[in-house]
Amino acid sequence: MKAIAHQGEGLDGASYRDMDRPETGPGQVCVQLKAAALNHRDIWTCNRADPNGAPVILGSDGAGIVAELGAGVDDLKAGDEVVINSSQDWASQSEVPLGEYGVGYKILGFPDHGTFAEYIVIGRQQLEPKPAFLDWREAAAFCLVGLTTYRALFTEGRLKAGQTVAIPGIGGGAATQALLFAKAAGAKVVVTSRADEKLNKARELGADLAISSDGDWGQAVRDFTGGRGADIVIETIGGATWKNSMAALANGGRLAVFGATSDGMVEIDLASLFLHWQSIIGTTMGSREEFRDMLAFTEAHQIHPVIDRTFPLAEGVEAMRYLDNAGQMGNVVLDI
Ligand SMILES: NC(=O)c1ccc[n+]([C@@H]2O[C@H](COP(=O)([O-])OP(=O)(O)OC[C@H]3O[C@@H](n4cnc5c(N)ncnc54)[C@H](OP(=O)(O)O)[C@@H]3O)[C@@H](O)[C@H]2O)c1
Repeated sequence: MKAIAHQGEGLDGASYRDMDRPETGPGQVCVQLKAAALNHRDIWTCNRADPNGAPVILGSDGAGIVAELGAGVDDLKAGDEVVINSSQDWASQSEVPLGEYGVGYKILGFPDHGTFAEYIVIGRQQLEPKPAFLDWREAAAFCLVGLTTYRALFTEGRLKAGQTVAIPGIGGGAATQALLFAKAAGAKVVVTSRADEKLNKARELGADLAISSDGDWGQAVRDFTGGRGADIVIETIGGATWKNSMAALANGGRLAVFGATSDGMVEIDLASLFLHWQSIIGTTMGSREEFRDMLAFTEAHQIHPVIDRTFPLAEGVEAMRYLDNAGQMGNVVLDI
């Protein structure tokens, strides 16, 4: 089968190539993929993989049609339309993965083969019905960022209607999804970007304030909230935005961090943190329970993820280079 796999070093190690179609084992399902979506993780994987290791199919997000059922799987049938939950071996909502399926916690797309392929074989428990109101591209686009931002905003952030959420770097797929979820939950949302056209697009998507990532935007969030600050900050960029993210945070505010695209080393003013009752919360992905809650929330509010650009599978490496250059506003998707 055709796939985008990685072997070697950096993005140069990623290529469109033939890979063996995997066998479907007990408890597993073979899905014929219709679309897959990119995440920054796919680029990290190229940078971290052992250059001498076996080729691995990239990709965490995907949606497709059930092609084959392994022994013991009797609650799905061939032809069912499904989305993939890439957060493996985490069933119930808990502070950390509990390894409830006994395969060890992993994010799909390294070390296990991922979704940038014509077929994937995956544990039954990682599949959920595709929301009928979404097309294939949309269904593939939002699963990983949807799960992560849902947990960050609601489980960890305890977001309530009327509160303010600040989201720096709105061009990212995770940031854009966080904007959609926070607005659907009745929050006020402030976003930042380095690009004017992304700020305009964010306003169209419902951002209450959209401002440049350059300059003193932490103070701008305070001004917007009458001096109070943001109840929740969704931080995925790290070093480049950290100081403003902390400056934007309200007394008792929660800064949920799950990415560090620019730089992972930051300074924290501990006195300011404890004197303002603030929390910094690290979070990654989420449980199957949260994934299902996230799908139900998406359906209830009819939330269509933002698709920036689509590439055919054969041009998957070009799509990764596009993402690496941060030109996107939302999600980048592969048609398969
Ligand atoms: N731990 C998890 O479970 C999890 C899940 C999802 C994502 N993540 C992480 O979250 C991060 C975001 O991922 P993503 O795929 O949504 O998007 P991404 O490709 O990392 O882009 C995020 C956005 O960050 C902004 N940005 C990047 N570098 C910047 C800099 N130096 N200064 C200011 N802004 C900068 C840009 O926004 P503008 O173009 O608008 O300026 C960019 O579009 C990644 O690090 C990813 O690995 C982690």
